[in-house]
Amino acid sequence: MAFQVALLFILVAVGQCTSVNPGVKVRVTKSGIEYANKVAYAEIIHQIKTLSIPDQSGQDGHISYTLTNIKVTGVSPPTSSISLVPKKDGVSWALTKLGISIHADWRVKYKEGIVHISTSGSVDASVSGMNLVETASFSIDKSGRPSIASRGCSDSIGSVSVSFHGGTAFIINLFRHTIEGKVKEILQPKVCDEVVEVVNKNAERALASIAVTIEVAKQFLVDYRLVAPPNITDEYFELFDKGEVFWKANLTEAPFSPMPIQAWTNNSRHVYIWGTEYTPNTFLYQAHTHGYLKYNVTKKDLPASDASYLNTTCKLKCIGSIIPPIGKKYPNSTVELGLQTTAVPKAIVTNKTLTVELRTLVTMWARTPNNTLTFLASLAVNLSLTLQPSIKNEKLIGVITDHSFKLTVVKSSVGELYPSLYNAVIDGILTIVVIPKLNDIAAKGAQLPLIDGVQFNNTILLLQQGNLLIGTDLIYKAKRSLHFLKESLNVPPV
Ligand SMILES: *[C@@H]1O[C@H](CO)[C@@H](O)[C@H](O)[C@H]1NC(C)=O
Ligand SMILES: *[C@@H]1O[C@H](CO)[C@@H](O)[C@H](O)[C@H]1NC(C)=O
Ligand SMILES: *[C@@H]1O[C@H](CO)[C@@H](O)[C@H](O)[C@H]1NC(C)=O
Ligand SMILES: *[C@@H]1O[C@H](CO)[C@@H](O)[C@H](O)[C@H]1NC(C)=O
Ligand SMILES: *[C@@H]1O[C@H](CO)[C@@H](O)[C@H](O)[C@H]1NC(C)=O
Ligand SMILES: *[C@@H]1O[C@H](CO)[C@@H](O)[C@H](O)[C@H]1NC(C)=O
Ligand SMILES: *[C@@H]1O[C@H](CO)[C@@H](O)[C@H](O)[C@H]1NC(C)=O
Ligand SMILES: *[C@@H]1O[C@H](CO)[C@@H](O)[C@H](O)[C@H]1NC(C)=O
Ligand SMILES: *[C@@H]1O[C@H](CO)[C@@H](O)[C@H](O)[C@H]1NC(C)=O
Ligand SMILES: *[C@@H]1O[C@H](CO)[C@@H](O)[C@H](O)[C@H]1NC(C)=O
Repeated sequence: MAFQVALLFILVAVGQCTSVNPGVKVRVTKSGIEYANKVAYAEIIHQIKTLSIPDQSGQDGHISYTLTNIKVTGVSPPTSSISLVPKKDGVSWALTKLGISIHADWRVKYKEGIVHISTSGSVDASVSGMNLVETASFSIDKSGRPSIASRGCSDSIGSVSVSFHGGTAFIINLFRHTIEGKVKEILQPKVCDEVVEVVNKNAERALASIAVTIEVAKQFLVDYRLVAPPNITDEYFELFDKGEVFWKANLTEAPFSPMPIQAWTNNSRHVYIWGTEYTPNTFLYQAHTHGYLKYNVTKKDLPASDASYLNTTCKLKCIGSIIPPIGKKYPNSTVELGLQTTAVPKAIVTNKTLTVELRTLVTMWARTPNNTLTFLASLAVNLSLTLQPSIKNEKLIGVITDHSFKLTVVKSSVGELYPSLYNAVIDGILTIVVIPKLNDIAAKGAQLPLIDGVQFNNTILLLQQGNLLIGTDLIYKAKRSLHFLKESLNVPPV
């Protein structure tokens, strides 16, 4: 409960900030919108093909009729186009030359004076040249997600033709005109209703599936909520996400802000995502501030291949042989190392590298045969890690490709030693334990703010000053839509 209240506070705070830079920016380009058009188109065709039309009945002069079992039997695919409408904060979607054919059973009662005729049959009707324009606009919903809502749909029908089967010709001729009108009357609002439903329900549901607050490592919360309304231009629309990592138990903002993102004019991919340094830096800030960046390396952390590295007594390579005075003073012991950051680490992205700079304190103890811990030394170690980012399964992952460090001895109980001896021990601990552990975490990757069911194609990843740019085409994998995309391309013309 407290958590929800706190979230609400952040939301209010975010709502009040007017011109904040985003930590993460998402641009959906015209080609991305056009791709979405294809997906939406398939969805609409499916909706129209499965329209459920209730039975109809009515009276016209001497005729009373019922239409039952009304079914859509065919759809002739329209041409569709989509455009961004900056003035309406949205998109405009046009379908032209849509054709729909339906089949129904009819029954007519004719009654004039003493003449009573009852007749029935079936009818095939088709409308053609249907045109439709739907406008939808984007905004932010109350949970900080982008939302979409229909702002109006209008359609018109070209012509209607009907052909009757069975029944009495004389009655049918009286009845034909009524039916033509009725078909128009049924279909015209129905099609817009379906389109509005796809926008307000399906598209909105897809946007609502964007994970905007993601729990990470149980203790952290990544906040991808929007910090400003979407920006819509003729070429793209952009979403400005907060991109801040919070300590889940105390949602206090980090005391720094994102830097502006440089201009980018190549819109050849469907989507571009900028991840700034701000996101990892807020993570590092919260993690350091809340004492999360602390770890004791003990022998249980060693891989089998280096199982005796922390021993003080050994035949080949171990700390006791690398630093002989430790081996002599504390034989048959194992060394334990306490690592902790002493300042907020910093992630730095340049146009060449992604590095993380950490200032740490490393404390070394010997766990002696009587199981007591004896202080050996403490070292100030400044560590720099170089990461190679990449994209895997729609996640941003990384691998540490290089590391370097500088150390000074803060305190020692084993006399004055050459720093190069400590250097060798620290390098061993980094390569044997710390870097493999960090690589395991980095390989799990960071989730990007995307809708469900989307896969990447033709992905590029670019390092720029202060941010990382991902450009990619999308493949929408919701099985239904792809299925109906195929189906809709196969429908016979009316
Ligand atoms: C929105 O896009 C226009 C056109 O690219 C740009 O001039 C404007 O600065 C953008 N607004 C924001 C808030 O980024
Ligand atoms: C949350 O963090 C802020 C700043 O670090 C601190 O002032 C505040 O007391 C903390 N609140 C709680 C409930 O721990
Ligand atoms: C845009 O980027 C793509 C791929 O990254 C490249 O093939 C294309 O030439 C670029 N277009 C322009 C106009 O720079
Ligand atoms: C690491 O070990 C030291 C000494 O036993 C202990 O005081 C400290 O709490 C441990 N730190 C962590 C993070 O386990
Ligand atoms: C390293 O120490 C452990 C006990 O801590 C011991 O079981 C192991 O045999 C030692 N390895 C070597 C090579 O001395
Ligand atoms: C270390 O262990 C070995 C083998 O268990 C033993 O022979 C030796 O006496 C021990 N040394 C000390 C100083 O305890
Ligand atoms: C990278 O940045 C440096 C300095 O900030 C600049 O001189 C260089 O041209 C940039 N390189 C690229 C490929 O953008
Ligand atoms: C444990 O062993 C260490 C070194 O071997 C010694 O200095 C210390 O006094 C011993 N502690 C106890 C409680 O026996
Ligand atoms: C680590 O970096 C800090 C800040 O740049 C500096 O004051 C300190 O001397 C450095 N320590 C080492 C061991 O290089
Ligand atoms: C991925 O992109 C390539 C190159 O543009 C294209 O040929 C391929 O069809 C795309 N894959 C899918 C599944 O759309």
